[in-house]
Order: sequence, then C-alpha cells, then structure tokens
Amino acid sequence: MRFGIVGCGVIGALHARLVASLEGKARLVAVADTDLGRAEALAATHGCDAVGDLDALYARDDIDAVVICLPSGLHADAAVPALRAGKHVVIEKPIDITLAAADRIIEAERESGRTVTVISQRRFEPSFRLVKAAIEAGELGRLTSGAAEVTLWRPQSYYDSGGWRGTWALDGGGALMNQGVHVVDLMLALLGPAEEVSAYTGLLAHEGIEVEDTAIAAVRFAGGALGRVFATTAAHGGASVRVSVFGDQGHAVVENEVISSFKVGDDDRISGGSPARLGAESHLAQLADFVDAVAEGRAPEVTSADGRAALALVLAVYESARAGTPVKPG
Ligand SMILES: NC(=O)c1ccc[n+]([C@@H]2O[C@H](COP(=O)([O-])OP(=O)(O)OC[C@H]3O[C@@H](n4cnc5c(N)ncnc54)[C@H](O)[C@@H]3O)[C@@H](O)[C@H]2O)c1
Repeated sequence: MRFGIVGCGVIGALHARLVASLEGKARLVAVADTDLGRAEALAATHGCDAVGDLDALYARDDIDAVVICLPSGLHADAAVPALRAGKHVVIEKPIDITLAAADRIIEAERESGRTVTVISQRRFEPSFRLVKAAIEAGELGRLTSGAAEVTLWRPQSYYDSGGWRGTWALDGGGALMNQGVHVVDLMLALLGPAEEVSAYTGLLAHEGIEVEDTAIAAVRFAGGALGRVFATTAAHGGASVRVSVFGDQGHAVVENEVISSFKVGDDDRISGGSPARLGAESHLAQLADFVDAVAEGRAPEVTSADGRAALALVLAVYESARAGTPVKPG
C-alpha cells in the first residue's frame, strides 16, 4: 500500500517512520503539511516527496492511502476529500471533535467504498487482547463494572507548544478528549455501548487554555454494568493509564499496558507474568491491520463507528458537566 502522511508534527513523524518500516506491506510516497518546511524536513529523512497542498496529495495516483495527523478538529476536513479522491484513510485519534464531523467521515467512507480506521493503538497491546478474548469467551461472567483512568501531568509548556492545544475549536477538549479518548475506546470495546453519563470537569492546574484538565464521569452501560472514567493532565508526577473490568466470575486490570491483576474463578491468569507491552509497536500493529483489512476486504479492527462511539462518550461527559444532568451519548 502506497502511503501519504498528512500533517508532519509529532505523530506524523512517527507514522512516517512506521509506514517506512512496514517493508513488503507499505511504502511511504509523500508527506504533506501546510508548513512546507516541516514536510520537507520529514521527507528528507525518508527520501520521499514533500507537498504543501493536501489536494495535490490526494490528486496523485501513486498514493493508495493517507494517514491524517492534523490537529483533531481538522480530521474530517482532511479525511472526506481524501476518501472522495479514492484513498483509504487512517485517522489519528480522536476521529474528529464533533459528531457531525464524525458522521461526514462515515458517510464519505460509505459512499467511496474505501476503508477508514481510527487510531487506538492500545487495542493492539497483547495484554488488552488477552483480556478482550477472556470477556468474549464469557470467562469473566456477567460484567458488573469497569474503570478507565488516565492520570498524567502535562506542564503548561505542553499546552503552549502548539496554538491548537487546549482550544475547543481544534483540540475539542482537554484531558479527556485528547489523552483520555484512548481508554474510553478500550472501555467501550470491553464493556459495550454506553447508555448514560453523569460528569464533572474542571480546569485546575493550567492557565490560558479553554478546556478541562480534569474530568470524572460515572457511566451506565447498555448491558447493565456501571463504570467510571477519570482523565487528568493535572496529576503532578502521575503517569498511569489503567483499564479495569470486573465480572461475577473474574476480573482484569491492565495498567500501563501490562496486566496487573487477572483472575478467572480461582485461576490466577498472571501467575506466569503479563505479556510485555509493545509501546510504539502497537501503532505499527494497527497500521498492519489496516493494510491487511484493505487487502482482505474486511473491516479493520478499529472502525470509524468505534471512533465515533468513543467521541460520543467524551462529548456526553462534557455536556453532562456543563448541564449538571445525566446525558445519553449521541
Ligand atoms: N495516538 C496517539 O498516541 C497520539 C499521540 C499524539 C497525537 N495524536 C493525535 O495526532 C494529531 C496531531 O497531533 P500532533 O501532536 O502530531 O500535533 P502537531 O501540532 O505536532 O502537528 C500537527 C501538524 O499539522 C500541521 N497542520 C496544521 N494545519 C494544517 C492543515 N490545514 N493542513 C496541513 N497541515 C496542517 C501543522 O503544521 C503540524 O505540522 C492530533 O489529532 C492528536 O490527537 C495521537
């Protein structure tokens, strides 16, 4: 699959490296950024073309797929013309920052017959796969509750490092939309669709940003389980990403991509140790799944509908915190 990268910032550079490393499956043809200097610098590293105009990238017939690595509020504006130009599309998380934008992507995907995946690389971590397989086999019994937690510290300099960070218009939210959407997606993949959310948000340790740096929500899932979502970038020294799921016959806790507790009945599933974490290789695994999905004519492991569901839950948290009432995700 011949790839173009759209957006040559922090994550665009990672995707360029990963695509280039998928030898035999993928090839990096060109990178694009409205800041042509950035595109040229990245292109020089990989010996590919640099483009300053996205339409020029989409018009090329030597590109089969693009990876959208732009500020979050620009994802649909970039993905829809790419799909209309016949490209398959990988979109960095979140899918976009409004449900209307997510729906535009899903509609363009349907009309074009091309494939879209939304990055949620932690789904490809071996620890998560083990837990998900146990749930699908019914080993945890009836799922009763779960928690998704991201407790991080982002210094003020992080928010100051890009004009789009911490804005409603382009980041679309703070700790939950940007950092927390990963674990929201994992929680939904394990516990199923969310039915209702009650939430509080706060801006407690940063200045000059519009969005929350702390969000806490209670969630009721369609299957009856209850859950908790907790995302903060205001936890100094914090560096924990944790997803837990509890059932009436077992439970699992995954912390920083390693299983810290996993019991099925009396069986301690981690007595032999947790599988090692993949780190950046989990991004690579998702790109490989995308390439294989297109080749095999199947859906990718993370679909546009999955990206929309995670976004809908994040937006419901914001709406509930604003309105002071429970909200059903759209
Ligand atoms: N999956 C992950 O773990 C992960 C990690 C970091 C970022 N992300 C996501 O990746 C996206 C980008 O984040 P980042 O940290 O790389 O941002 P960044 O600011 O480092 O890079 C964004 C790039 O987009 C370019 N750009 C802006 N507007 C453009 C336009 N209209 N056309 C073309 N180029 C344009 C900028 O010049 C910049 O090079 C965000 O959606 C973010 O949520 C995901």
